[in-house]
Amino acid sequence: MRIRAAVLRHPSEPVRVEEVELDPPRAGEVLVKVAAAGVCHSDLRHADGELGAGLWPAVMGHEGAGIVAAVGAGVTHVSPGDPVAFCFVPACRACRPCLAGKPNLCLVVAEHGARGMLPDGSSRLRLPDGTVLQHGLRTACFAEHTVVAAGGAVPLPQGLPLWQAALLGCGVVTGLGAVRNVAGVAEGDAVAVIGCGGVGLQVIAGARLAGAGPIVAVDRVPEKLELAVAQGATHTIDTAAESDPVSVLHRLSEGGVDYAFEVIGRAETIRLAWDAIRPGGSAIVVGLAPVGVEVSVPAIEFLSDKSLRGTYYGSGDPAAELPELARLALRGDLELGRVVSQVAPLEGLGEALDRLRRGEGARTILVLDEALAGCG
Ligand code: APR
Ligand code: ZN
Ligand code: ZN
Repeated sequence: MRIRAAVLRHPSEPVRVEEVELDPPRAGEVLVKVAAAGVCHSDLRHADGELGAGLWPAVMGHEGAGIVAAVGAGVTHVSPGDPVAFCFVPACRACRPCLAGKPNLCLVVAEHGARGMLPDGSSRLRLPDGTVLQHGLRTACFAEHTVVAAGGAVPLPQGLPLWQAALLGCGVVTGLGAVRNVAGVAEGDAVAVIGCGGVGLQVIAGARLAGAGPIVAVDRVPEKLELAVAQGATHTIDTAAESDPVSVLHRLSEGGVDYAFEVIGRAETIRLAWDAIRPGGSAIVVGLAPVGVEVSVPAIEFLSDKSLRGTYYGSGDPAAELPELARLALRGDLELGRVVSQVAPLEGLGEALDRLRRGEGARTILVLDEALAGCG
């Protein structure tokens, strides 16, 4: 079928909406009519070529929701008409990490995903001239339709507007997973969240649900700090105005926070997270740094039981957690709409990426189908 999609031909060229060819789903795949998709900082890193060489030409987008349009042979967990959210790590459930309970680290996904291909090693996307396109970040949902591996289409409970459900598959799974699966934040724990964009705001929501306090939001943009307070932050630090955020963090937490989440992906803010924690505390790096960035910490401090930890995609079982997160949103425990600062058509992607570059607003939601998205 012929569809409109946001194509990254090369990081040196602006992303353009183009007509592309999408082949039908094969065995073990699902065709989804995309309703809405969120623009995440990882998309900006992809567009700028910062995720490594060769991730183009590609159809972009990894966070979104839609309605199943068709299923390939052997797919039984969804049927046409079902609402689904995308999971950008469609785990094989058979490799070593999958069997060890770490489906977020699936080896099959890592192997084919790194080349922008579906799990069978091929693509369903091409330009009209025949050039093969990658399934960007394994999802390619900045498009009217997309074909994903079966595990990449997760059925949603009825009732959640799809423009909100679109946020679940990256920001919400990543943010809440870091709090629950990596840190295991408990009631009364002191938490710092450094970087309060689309993902950081979900870390704050997770910390609030866990009963943490204080929850200190750190950002250099006042508008983000206001959103952070609405999400449950108890204190804020504007690093553009405060020259010594570490001292403030230590004062607010009586000697250092239990958990500091870095949700930006920069060496100096990862170091800030490290400096913010107390002996025995953990600095958890959620942010995705460009390839080549290195971090240093004073090694003597490992002696005080401090730890520096990474996480990927919530470090749990994203596909299994997604429906539960959707139910939290349906109950009103997660206010998904609040982090949406802009709603735009597919053609608005370029501006949305520019806003992320400038640090403006929180999430932009691209609406592919207003009626399906529920915001028309
Ligand atoms: N100091 C303080 N705050 C900063 C700094 C800095 N040096 N640099 C950026 N920020 C803030 C921005 O103001 C913004 O609020 O960090 C936030 C980043 O948010 P977004 O750009 O919305 O990024 P988001 O989509 O939340 O992703 C954050 O997580 O999944 C990864 O790839 C993603 O690395 C990215 C990170
Ligand atoms: Zn993302
Ligand atoms: Zn696997």
